[in-house]
Amino acid sequence: MRERWVIGNWKMNGTLPRNAALLDALKASAPTRAKLAVCVPSVYLAQASALLAGSAIAWGAQDVSANADGAYTGQISASMLQEFGAKFAIVGHSERRLFNAESNEDVAKKADAAAMVGIRPVICVGESLAERAEDRAEAVVCAQLAACAEVLAKFPALAILAYEPVWAIGTGKTATPAQAEAMHAFLRRELAKISAAAANVPILYGGSVKPSNAAELFAQPNIDGGLIGGASLVAADFVAIAAA
Ligand code: 13P
Repeated sequence: MRERWVIGNWKMNGTLPRNAALLDALKASAPTRAKLAVCVPSVYLAQASALLAGSAIAWGAQDVSANADGAYTGQISASMLQEFGAKFAIVGHSERRLFNAESNEDVAKKADAAAMVGIRPVICVGESLAERAEDRAEAVVCAQLAACAEVLAKFPALAILAYEPVWAIGTGKTATPAQAEAMHAFLRRELAKISAAAANVPILYGGSVKPSNAAELFAQPNIDGGLIGGASLVAADFVAIAAA
């Protein structure tokens, strides 16, 4: 049985009081079959760690440096995240690939740096609208996945994969359950080529997941949960998605 996770990606949102209200509401919510986590801006890791300690909700970061330490102004290492009890680090989110020019190789190094200290890398893959229109969606995500093959082979019990079609992120345009399942099944076959253990890596779907579409998406055989942006900022929506 594969793990099921619903992970919130707050992106660059939040204030100390708003985060406290959101985390308190999540803590007060009924437990769900899927496990819950929030990936917060790194300055709020201490707050998440303090407010969520002892709760069933895990927390993590939205990025991690590929380097262990040294002269890398502005970067945050995996061991620093670990000091704050972070369980996850999102790596290779399309917004970082786009705005920070992260390559597939950068993403693989970051995933490895996280896993080396026991932090679970949430490796994001996904194609743009143009790539889908040109019928290159599978080739693009396959190349993104292939770059991380070594990490997935080394750390199958830690790694999590997230399929986030770029055209569905923050646009309100969700992939249909059939479109998402087709890509997840493709990714599962690619994972199985790496190893039997890698074939069990959870694959989360991300891109405009809402309470109204979560159940149908999560009912697909190869969708093991979600990576949630906008809706993770509203406690009731996030919990409703997890309950789905
Ligand atoms: P939205 O849920 O806001 O579309 O964002 C998805 C996402 O990018 C999660 O990482």
